[in-house]
Amino acid sequence: MRSNEKTLLLPLVFGVLSCLCPVLPKTRPGHFISRRALVNQDQDSSLPEQIHLSLGSQSNDVTVVWSSSVGGQGSVDYGTSLDNLASKSTSSVVQLGQNSEQAARFIHRAELKNLEPGGHYVYRVSGVSGSKSDVFAFDVPHQQPHRPDVFLVVADLGLRTKSLQFLVHEVLNYKDKYEAVFHIGDIAYNLDYEGGNLGDEYMKRIQKFTSRVPYMTTPGDHEREMTQGKDTFYHYRHRFSMPNAPWPMTEDSLWYSINIGHTHFISINTESLDPGTDLGMKQLDWLTRDLSEANRHREFQPWIIVMGHKPMYCTKSVMEQLCDKETSPIRDVLEDLFYENGVDVYFSGHKHCYERSWPLYKGRVFQKNYINPMAPVYVIIGSMGYEYLVDLQKSDPYWLAFASADRSKELFGRLIVHNSTSLLWSVHVANTNEEVDKLFVIQKSHGSFGTPGPGAFESKQEEKSIKDNLPLEPFYVVDGREPPWHFQYRQILLSLFVFCMSLFLFLFLRHSRVRKILRL
Ligand SMILES: *[C@@H]1O[C@H](CO)[C@@H](O)[C@H](O)[C@H]1NC(C)=O
Repeated sequence: MRSNEKTLLLPLVFGVLSCLCPVLPKTRPGHFISRRALVNQDQDSSLPEQIHLSLGSQSNDVTVVWSSSVGGQGSVDYGTSLDNLASKSTSSVVQLGQNSEQAARFIHRAELKNLEPGGHYVYRVSGVSGSKSDVFAFDVPHQQPHRPDVFLVVADLGLRTKSLQFLVHEVLNYKDKYEAVFHIGDIAYNLDYEGGNLGDEYMKRIQKFTSRVPYMTTPGDHEREMTQGKDTFYHYRHRFSMPNAPWPMTEDSLWYSINIGHTHFISINTESLDPGTDLGMKQLDWLTRDLSEANRHREFQPWIIVMGHKPMYCTKSVMEQLCDKETSPIRDVLEDLFYENGVDVYFSGHKHCYERSWPLYKGRVFQKNYINPMAPVYVIIGSMGYEYLVDLQKSDPYWLAFASADRSKELFGRLIVHNSTSLLWSVHVANTNEEVDKLFVIQKSHGSFGTPGPGAFESKQEEKSIKDNLPLEPFYVVDGREPPWHFQYRQILLSLFVFCMSLFLFLFLRHSRVRKILRL
């Protein structure tokens, strides 16, 4: 082959490479490319920024957290109307030290306590030297037994999430006001990246809603930070203030519970559940006590909902997870506890997809409906993380009631607790609001599902005479189902097309007459 002929190989090489594209590995989560080219347009460095709310130890205590680039105490002026910002709460201030070279270093926290349940409040944050934020307003969660409680639930939400602004719109404009937004771990990807600048950017982007609706968080694996070989959750512990924890939060207070309306919400840190460690033991002790306490108050909070970043059950997908295995350490320590204490639903994220189980215990389905469930229901709502990775389902276990992993549909969950017996969970595409899934749970007798152990299924079968006669199917019996062909056909057709075109070009350019005309 003559040297100028070699150039003809280029289209061919290009064609072959383009064919390989669909099979090349996709990006993994956690490797965010710097986007700091964006101009930082903070005019005044003393101005309070990243203002966000969370609930304190009870649902009528609201905590305000914000950042500033200069130190000094700030404050929140608040009241029932703009003309009446009569109350004031001054802030405690901490300075970020670790991985924070590019961050607004000073974090402030002010508590607004004993507010009127259901009350409407207006507030403004003041920084040092008289700088003032815009005026914001929020509603304290109500305590009216006959009004539904409405929450928004997401997980695995970061700056790359395409529909972030639609989510903001949803939170602010849904016809029934959201009382809180729950974000079950993996926040921003990651709060400490780019010297903390990425965390700042994320908190600024979501301020539109977090300054108006309490933003309740749960730590995930992306909130861990490795410092001197030790996980410290440093940014997470400083940037957020959650119930029942000191502030900055300590590693042994990254779990909490709070009653809102009819529901006892529990948030756990699935990164520290190993009973072989002090932290794990401490959390499990706390959880055991909290659950039994919650069961003494089921008359008032009949629903018990637990949130934790990592799932207990999941299908098989691209990334192997412990939740798709026959034994999982998290399931080992939590499942009996949940069964014995009658946890109604466990919400998680971590896997970037949406999955919902039938009522399930030890891998066995107790019923294929949600009328008086006899075991907890498991839900994964991680589909806001598609831009980091798509966890396409690759197995179809018996316990799976519904699943979705469509990259074009970033999903959020809306949880409506109607009353003591009825709960509605629906899942929507953030940018179109299309409803993708809906689940009505009717529970007329809240409480323990029974004595945990291997005999639970059989004893339930006798006691309730399960009519469907469900097979005793352990969860790990899964169909090794490949993802359906139609998921990929477009890419394959496109590659084939490009390949044929380049082959054609190659052959065409090789033709002697063509070469003569082109003087190659
Ligand atoms: C609870 O709410 C559901 C849905 O709105 C309603 O159908 C049901 O009658 C209510 N039950 C009670 C006991 O109020």
